[in-house]
Amino acid sequence: MQTHILEETAKQLVAPGKGILAADESSASCQKRFDSVGVECTEETRREYREVLLTTPGSEHALSGVIFFDETYWQTTASGKPFREFLKERGVLLGIKVDQGLVDLPGFPGEKLSQGLDSLPERITKYHTAGAKFAKWRSVIQIGPDIPTEECIGANTFVLSRYARICQDHEIVPIVEPEVLFDGTHTSDCAEEVMGHVFDMLFRTMRAFRVHLPGAVLKTSMVLPGKNSGLPIVTEEVATRTVRVLHEHVPSELGGVVFLSGGQMSGDAFNNLNAIAKMGPHPWGVTFSYSRALQDPVLKQWAGNRGDKELAKHVFSRQLDRAIAATSGNMKREGSHDTFVTSGQDL
Ligand code: G3H
Repeated sequence: MQTHILEETAKQLVAPGKGILAADESSASCQKRFDSVGVECTEETRREYREVLLTTPGSEHALSGVIFFDETYWQTTASGKPFREFLKERGVLLGIKVDQGLVDLPGFPGEKLSQGLDSLPERITKYHTAGAKFAKWRSVIQIGPDIPTEECIGANTFVLSRYARICQDHEIVPIVEPEVLFDGTHTSDCAEEVMGHVFDMLFRTMRAFRVHLPGAVLKTSMVLPGKNSGLPIVTEEVATRTVRVLHEHVPSELGGVVFLSGGQMSGDAFNNLNAIAKMGPHPWGVTFSYSRALQDPVLKQWAGNRGDKELAKHVFSRQLDRAIAATSGNMKREGSHDTFVTSGQDL
């Protein structure tokens, strides 16, 4: 294992003043999002939309990396340049989502397991040869009556750890994402307790499977009350709880911590990140790896006027400015911006 290469890549991913664009929505997720803005979802419209994001002027200064879904990984700009080369020329690291989605965990109603391990070594070799520097694997943990079970957390942390070690053997930094879902009626107390426990099991298992922690990155939810709990999202409380659970349960030698937006309103996702950054210093670089919070207004703008892509690029550029300001704790507090929030399991 080339530990110095892994550590260097992890450092670059969470470098100050930069963050990650998650553009790795599966075709099925894109279908739902494009349906919501009335655009036909085809291979070409998905390519056209992703090109708007990637070719936004100045985005290379804000983005340390971009995560693709397999289809996008092999696509090109309208002029025929592979997106992979386009990013490389701009110094943006190339990432690939490698889990193959969620399946029910038999015997455990309401719980899921992510799949795709069996074919992973072959797929990782192919992506690495084509330039990938990091990967992402998402598992989900649902909170509800009597769940999550130890078995579900154990099965998912086992898969995440095996994935991480396979990536590292191919010089690819694994982003491990045990997403504790925002869906539900639980309290923040409950979310914090579940997250702490999931992190304990995850890092114990990663160590057992000989994952090099400084060459791996955690992608996590923030500690939020369940979306259907009727409880408000209070920025200071989210930041205090999130920082506490991370500081108490995430090893300081880990390569970095990045956040998903998880269906929060876009303004909340930026305000909360800003408050978390303000509570630093943290033992690891901390930044965003957002999909919906960065993209929702861009998708709406693009769908509303596909003839003028510059307008959509302008919106994306503004979103990146907000996100970057939030990573330093210097963002001016914003109101929540309504977005079309989708269920956490739908990615
Ligand atoms: O795996 C989750 C996605 O990469 C992040 O998506 O920011 O919309 O939660 P999100």
